[in-house]
Amino acid sequence: MKKNMRVDELARDERFSPFDREARFNDPRFVRRSGPARPGKLTPDRPEAPDLARALMHGIFVGEIQALEGAGRTCWDFEVGKGREDVPFELKLDMARQCWDEARHCEISVKLSDWMGTDIGEFAENTILFEAACNPDPVLRLTGVNRALEGLAIDVFNTMRDFGQASDDPILEFCEDWMLADEVTHVKMGSDWLRRMTEKDPERRANALEFQRVVDKLFSAGGFRGEDDDNPIQLSRRFRELAGFSTDEIDEIADIARQAKAEA
Ligand SMILES: [Fe+2]
Ligand SMILES: [Fe+2]
Repeated sequence: MKKNMRVDELARDERFSPFDREARFNDPRFVRRSGPARPGKLTPDRPEAPDLARALMHGIFVGEIQALEGAGRTCWDFEVGKGREDVPFELKLDMARQCWDEARHCEISVKLSDWMGTDIGEFAENTILFEAACNPDPVLRLTGVNRALEGLAIDVFNTMRDFGQASDDPILEFCEDWMLADEVTHVKMGSDWLRRMTEKDPERRANALEFQRVVDKLFSAGGFRGEDDDNPIQLSRRFRELAGFSTDEIDEIADIARQAKAEA
């Protein structure tokens, strides 16, 4: 079987819609007559809240598929060994466990999207998670996917869980809560393997953390994620701590988010 599959080789049937940045920004579901939807926390009283929540949930759903595909590829793409391009066998076991979790999340997400009134492909699929999972360096791959993107998933799940609670929807609330618990484990795997595999190689660790910073900045763009009141996705300090982030690292993500907002 082929190693290091490209993002354009992902198997998708006709139900899925590829991502188009321009179409996303002009999507009438998110653009008010006076301009783009106002920034701010996702709360049930916002008129655009149902569409925003459905779009976020669809984003989670395609993210779950790509997380499954990425973790599966990581089991296959690398050989077991001590070389720079090899991985320990235990890392593959963690990735295999992650595949099982992500497959379950795909099923939960399909059913939850249906509950929320969304069809597969109603929103476009952004493939950035799988693109990060194509990195040929296993340490960069795990840092980009498990720490940066699944770290973002922690923030999104936590925000959606709060939204489910605020809108009296226990199905949304508990589905998000269950998936959140698994994501904390996946981010912790990323934190642990980054630490273990770069123990004697500070340069490799610095490169991996820089890669994570680039991905984190991308998702803080325009104030999308942060810890201020006008960030739709709230940075979740508590769950990030459980996932192996130090206070300094969380402060840094909050700073990146403020910078990205200022630049926007
Ligand atoms: Fe997941
Ligand atoms: Fe995950």
